[in-house]
Amino acid sequence: MWRALIAIYISTGSVDCVDRSKFRTFEQGSFGRRYRKYINKVEGDAGLVVHKLDPSTIKSSGNKVQASLLFANDASVKPLLLELSFFLNDVDGSCGIVRAFVTEKDPLHPRFRLTPGDVVRKDEDLQPDQVAVTEGAGFTEIASTRGACKVKLQHSPFQLEFVAHGRVLQKLNSRRLLNFERYRAKGAQAHAGLVDATDLDPNNLFEESFGGHTDSKPRGPAAVGVDVAFEDAVDVFGLAEHAVGLGLGENRLPEPYRFFNLDVFEYALDVPMALYGAIPLVTAIHREKSGETVASGFFFPNPSEGFVHVDASKGSPQTETWWLFESGVMDMFFFAGPGPQEVLQRYHTVTGFPRMPPISTLGKHQSRWNYVDVEDSIGVNRKFDQHDIPYDVLWLDIEHTDSKKYFTWHPSHFAQPDKLLAALEASKRKLVTIIDPHIKKDSGYDVYNKMKNHDFFTKTKDKQLYDGWCWPGTSSYPDFCNPEARRLWTTFFKMDYYPHNRPDLYTWNDMNEPSVFNGPEVTMPRDNLHKCSEKDYEVEHRDVHNVYGFYHHMATVEGQLVRAPNVRPFVLTRSFFAGSHKHGAIWTGDNMAKWEHLAISVPMLVSLCLCGASFVGADVPGFFFDPEPELFRRWHQLGIWYPFYRGHAHLETKRREPWMLGKEITENVREQVTVRYQMLPTWYTLFAQWALAGQPILRPLWFQDAADSEAFRHQNTHFLLGSDVLVRAITKRGEDTLNVYLPSGSWFDFWSMEAAPLVGGKSHSVKADPSHVPVYVRAGAILPKKMRRRRSSLAMASDPYTIVVYGEKAGGHVYMDDGQSHDFMRGHFVYDKLSFDGQELVSEPAQTLHMAGAAKGAAGSFKQSTAVERLVFVGLPSSPVSADMEGKETFQVTSTRMQNGAWVATVKKPLCQLGTAWKLRLRF
Ligand code: NOJ
Repeated sequence: MWRALIAIYISTGSVDCVDRSKFRTFEQGSFGRRYRKYINKVEGDAGLVVHKLDPSTIKSSGNKVQASLLFANDASVKPLLLELSFFLNDVDGSCGIVRAFVTEKDPLHPRFRLTPGDVVRKDEDLQPDQVAVTEGAGFTEIASTRGACKVKLQHSPFQLEFVAHGRVLQKLNSRRLLNFERYRAKGAQAHAGLVDATDLDPNNLFEESFGGHTDSKPRGPAAVGVDVAFEDAVDVFGLAEHAVGLGLGENRLPEPYRFFNLDVFEYALDVPMALYGAIPLVTAIHREKSGETVASGFFFPNPSEGFVHVDASKGSPQTETWWLFESGVMDMFFFAGPGPQEVLQRYHTVTGFPRMPPISTLGKHQSRWNYVDVEDSIGVNRKFDQHDIPYDVLWLDIEHTDSKKYFTWHPSHFAQPDKLLAALEASKRKLVTIIDPHIKKDSGYDVYNKMKNHDFFTKTKDKQLYDGWCWPGTSSYPDFCNPEARRLWTTFFKMDYYPHNRPDLYTWNDMNEPSVFNGPEVTMPRDNLHKCSEKDYEVEHRDVHNVYGFYHHMATVEGQLVRAPNVRPFVLTRSFFAGSHKHGAIWTGDNMAKWEHLAISVPMLVSLCLCGASFVGADVPGFFFDPEPELFRRWHQLGIWYPFYRGHAHLETKRREPWMLGKEITENVREQVTVRYQMLPTWYTLFAQWALAGQPILRPLWFQDAADSEAFRHQNTHFLLGSDVLVRAITKRGEDTLNVYLPSGSWFDFWSMEAAPLVGGKSHSVKADPSHVPVYVRAGAILPKKMRRRRSSLAMASDPYTIVVYGEKAGGHVYMDDGQSHDFMRGHFVYDKLSFDGQELVSEPAQTLHMAGAAKGAAGSFKQSTAVERLVFVGLPSSPVSADMEGKETFQVTSTRMQNGAWVATVKKPLCQLGTAWKLRLRF
């Protein structure tokens, strides 16, 4: 039976659209159905009060305030506890992080809370923001003693206003949609009046079925929901992962966005259906009539099934949302701006900063389900060299294992993986093997036995071992929520456990939603049990569903660290939750080799970046189906601008290594991949600014200037790489003229130094070049590059830098370290600031990146070339005659004329080293 199911799962057949009947819609779940009724009831009765705050219960101390929320319609119901905590932004010490926590007092069953430190940092690791409380008539104000951040609590009906930057940014419960379903015994007496949504629809509170599966729901209803209005907000962004446009309101979807991590076979686009991961964070852009803008963020890290409705369609000055989760607590964060950058700083303050990846993983990745055997894999590696195409990491999918038992090798096809590993090492490349969470039920499989003997597998509702079907057939699923189970998992990565292991053998975590072929909605039953941090199996799967993959990923990273503490881990995950950015990379799963999937990759990846997860990519050129040559070419041309750039393919597709589609395409991919590698120093600098200071790598066009309303119109086809490189995706077959919008300023053509710069603040009609997508560099940027084509990133370590300066006045940064170890955390890095005033290019140590702390970079403390072989100045008004280094050495300058009469000047071998201070003066 399970074999047939796997065959159905694998085969793409002729259908290419998701079977929607397999997945629940909002109203097919009882908590959604009754919340809809609750919304209708409350909104239909303007005078109805359900919750009110009892001012006599307000207590405050330091950065915390507590109060009780009463149920206005039934005094016999125990009040809810409201706790507010105020914190400072780690990066600049400013106020503007408010945590609002709501739960029931003395619940019948414990309400699940994520372990502090896992997704959200521990309170004690955050900097408290002391507050002062003032009583008013019908309201209480709680203001930060640091500055203009405050919360205003309206007592009846209860409402919370979040105020910063001199204005109300967000209102919680202004529509009175707060719904807190307290645990109750089956058959408990009905409430005297309206207390929660169960009063309007008492059906299916203790049992419900979907798709032939029954959820026993022994603890009954427990949903939590509330509305949040973003005042004067043009739209909200985030809520990854959905295959939709970037503007969540602009998408105008009638149904709420769903969060329930799922393995959705052949997922549909432009629908609010759930996908593999969940980051319940939005950034709002508020715009005043004056045109002035500020940003704010709202974060609700609840790992049960969730729905978020976004309505920007009312023509009212605000974007309205409501948020609903199946169980758990209300743990909500309000973040101030003023810009989206500061919202992200606050998000990282709360969830933690990302992990700095090994430099190899910023190169090209080559994957396929599956490379057949060791010879085939070595052959692919060799062919990259024969075709002179750089790449860094080769990937082995599930077929490389012995019967899909992870941490093993196929007895005949991969009997000698050391041969492959040696070939890769000789070409300075790395290998990834797949390690999924489902563990084959096989008494001869040590991983299975160890997990079972320790009692670390997830249980059924009756506390029996839970079995589900996945690639290996009948499988068990480790309870990754349990820290002890995670600890055991880490030991499987030890050098003496995993055969043929290497300190830098990297990992791919797939199917970790978790995917269960015979489970409800292709996942685990919600009434399954986990232990998490409890003494026994008492946590229902429904409470933790969306963090299953997060913990699998976390445990795998910890495994790599146990194996080799000073080697940077790399783990790609398919399923994720808020905070997964701390562990590793994410990709957008099983997309299709279709133009629409290429197109949707832009907003999907930018949205992830706005949710703190910048190490992201989509399978190039689409996982399912065979790409037509034009799509193949265009997707690689776009893929070189993804932070994570991996070629991958479904089992049934034709081979599609870059040389498989003829000479012309091979050459084009070679050139494009070379550009990726030439830009590695820029990528690496951006990764450091992300990992060490929380700055997103891909950004929407409006990120730096949200007052530019035109930029919002192009957010689904254009994006910025860092602040200065603009990429316009080509998303349609045969597109030969493109509309390119450039924000204000002046923009140089990345591909042609001679081309005259274009004026920003407007759209340009641009001819689509067959060999690349349009890319522009902001005048004022300085980009570090390495120009020599090598086999891989590690092969480039001793290569010198080329620094390209765009415009008459420019600034930029360059970060470097050994690319592989954690020595950078002890100051072994260089972070330089480069500035050009029209005559002098100055290199000096940059202001430290936040997470680098007080550590000062030290040149020479790691093995990498810091030499600069070339300085290129693009767009000079006249041609320099020479250049000198602080009046000492003099260098020749060669210049060429640009189409607009300006000059590109090149100083060769300027004898300078990054990581040291120097000044180079151009003489005109
Ligand atoms: C599903 C993943 O999304 C895909 O990338 C992979 O090739 C297959 N599982 C097989 O492991």
